[in-house]
Parts: sequence; C-alpha cells; structure tokens
Amino acid sequence: MKWAIIVLLLHLLHKIKCEQSYEVTNEKLEPFEGDSETLVIFDGLKTVGRERALNGTFKFLGDMNNDDFKVSVELYSSPKGDGEFKRMVMDVPQTSICECFKKFYVQFVQPSVKTGETTNFPVVDEDFCPVPQGDFYLKNIQFNTKDWPSQIPRGSVKAIITFFSDDKNVGGLIVIIKVEDRQS
Ligand SMILES: *[C@@H]1O[C@H](CO)[C@@H](O)[C@H](O)[C@H]1NC(C)=O
Repeated sequence: MKWAIIVLLLHLLHKIKCEQSYEVTNEKLEPFEGDSETLVIFDGLKTVGRERALNGTFKFLGDMNNDDFKVSVELYSSPKGDGEFKRMVMDVPQTSICECFKKFYVQFVQPSVKTGETTNFPVVDEDFCPVPQGDFYLKNIQFNTKDWPSQIPRGSVKAIITFFSDDKNVGGLIVIIKVEDRQS
C-alpha cells in the first residue's frame, strides 16, 4: 500500500516536471528566400521517419551581429488542422538576433538538442553573440517541450520565422507543428 502511494507520487511528480498536457509533431517545414539576398538557408532540413523527426542541415552565410540582424516570429493557429490559419496574439516582433536566440532558441529548441551529438550548433548562453556563420546539422530531433508554455492551442500551429539584415528580409523558415492532447 505504501509502495503504491510512493509509486503514484513519483508518477505524478514526473508528469508535473517533464510532461506537458500536449504532444507535438512536426508537420511541415518550408524554407523561404530573402527579398534580394538570402543569408540563412534552411532547405537542407527535412522531417524523417514515422516520428517526423527534424533532420538535415542549415547554413548561415555570415556572422550575424546583434546590431544589424533581427528576427521576427509570426504565429498562426489552425484549431481544426485544416489549413485555415488565424493570427495568434503571441507574436514576437522584430527582435535583435542574439536576444531572440537567447530567449526563444533556448526555450523552444535547445532542450531538444545536444551540442556535439545531435547538432554542431553551439550552446546558446548569456554570452552568445554573434550568431555564427557556418554549416550546421540536426540529427533526428524531436521537440522536447519541457520549457514550452503549458497552454498552446491544439490543432496546427504555424510559425513564420523571418531573419532581417538592416530591415531587409534575408530568408527564413516556416514551421508547422501538430499539437494534440497527450494520450495517457
Ligand atoms: C539526415 O541528414 C543527414 C545530413 O544531411 C543525411 O546524411 C541523412 O541521410 C539524413 N537521414 C535521413 C533518414 O534522411
């Protein structure tokens, strides 16, 4: 009886600490080019396997410093997953690139990767800047949502991530994920 309670408590604790009430899968990746030049290249990224893990390569053609480069993230939700997207209120306006990586890459992507194993992209910490030039890989990444918000809408969520240099669009990536209630 005691053991049963301990096991139950451990199970609950585990749920509280590491599990969201939702599951996320990659639905679609769509790189796009910049207006006159493209400095960020995501067309080597694909979803692979039944788990639709993120795999492949991406490229930054030059170092991107905090003064000249910005990133914006527009978010759209399609509750029925039918492609009818509505703008969400939690957009990220054009933000200096290093700040953006420290805030959003660290929250949404970094927990899912291991530098040296599943990516060669450097660890983003307090001192991270500029965003370095390079050819980077991601190896079969599935999102670890432990640091994601506890409330996100079900259905499809589309993020349009645009990179800017001197306020000109220099390319980006559209990511569509599917969000479902966790089956337990
Ligand atoms: C994953 O990406 C790497 C690097 O681009 C590639 O060599 C490999 O074939 C990809 N794996 C799958 C299953 O597509």
